Amino acid sequence: MADQPKIADQQTQQSSPAKLILAIFLTPIFVIGLILFLVWLGLHPHFPSFHIQNFSVPGLDQLNGFRSANITFNVTVRNPNRSTWIYYESIDGSVHYKDQKVGVVMPLLYSFNQPPKNTTILQQVFGGTVTMPSANNHRWMEIMNDRTEGTVKFSLQLASIIQFKKSIWDRRHHRMHADCDVEVGPDGLIVPSSVHDGCPVNLR
Ligand SMILES: *[C@@H]1O[C@H](CO)[C@@H](O)[C@H](O)[C@H]1NC(C)=O
Ligand SMILES: *[C@@H]1O[C@H](CO)[C@@H](O)[C@H](O)[C@H]1NC(C)=O
Ligand SMILES: *[C@@H]1O[C@H](CO)[C@@H](O)[C@H](O)[C@H]1NC(C)=O
Ligand SMILES: *[C@@H]1O[C@H](CO)[C@@H](O)[C@H](O)[C@H]1NC(C)=O
Ligand SMILES: *[C@@H]1O[C@H](CO)[C@@H](O)[C@H](O)[C@H]1NC(C)=O
Repeated sequence: MADQPKIADQQTQQSSPAKLILAIFLTPIFVIGLILFLVWLGLHPHFPSFHIQNFSVPGLDQLNGFRSANITFNVTVRNPNRSTWIYYESIDGSVHYKDQKVGVVMPLLYSFNQPPKNTTILQQVFGGTVTMPSANNHRWMEIMNDRTEGTVKFSLQLASIIQFKKSIWDRRHHRMHADCDVEVGPDGLIVPSSVHDGCPVNLR
């Protein structure tokens, strides 16, 4: 009976070196893993963020419809990173109504470099002009129906190829896509609830 504590003691004495050896091997692996994770975090750039500030479809209030409209918009794009630059190849823009493309802007903007923590106003750089299709199609009737119900929902889609630069340019080119849902009132002007709305961004 008196022997039992001794056996237990021997067991802890035997397992301690094993634990120590395990710790000696595992700690560096853990530390290296942690360092790699932090490096990955640091190198993993944050997406640019897009917000719709203004959008208007002049002529929407003309009951007879219009053959074309110059849709104007103001979208801000922000680089949220503290030290990473973003290079944008020309941004292509298109306007969709119910998954149907009703107009394109090409190119919306020529290539540019965006400094860290910078917000660029797309409209200021290049005015967005979209030509709507002619009146006599059923989409136009749907748009007019939506209008009498209060709001018409469009989506403004922006696509670009972007690259990140910390100290040197990252070789990888990412295909970027921002999708801005926007509602306009019967007068063709953006409804207040859509102003400042963020646009979901996809990066590949
Ligand atoms: C939004 O655009 C419309 C039409 O271009 C303009 O009349 C209006 O002042 C703009 N709103 C803001 C807040 O800039
Ligand atoms: C749209 O803009 C173009 C070029 O600025 C102009 O010629 C055209 O008349 C405009 N269309 C409408 C409907 O305002
Ligand atoms: C675009 O929106 C931004 C943010 O609301 C505003 O500061 C800027 O004056 C607008 N630009 C134009 C041309 O309306
Ligand atoms: C991008 O910004 C985020 C947030 O400020 C930061 O955690 C990250 O390290 C930045 N990435 C680079 C590559 O600078
Ligand atoms: C953001 O970057 C653009 C393009 O480099 C530049 O024209 C603009 O002045 C910058 N804005 C601010 C607030 O620094």
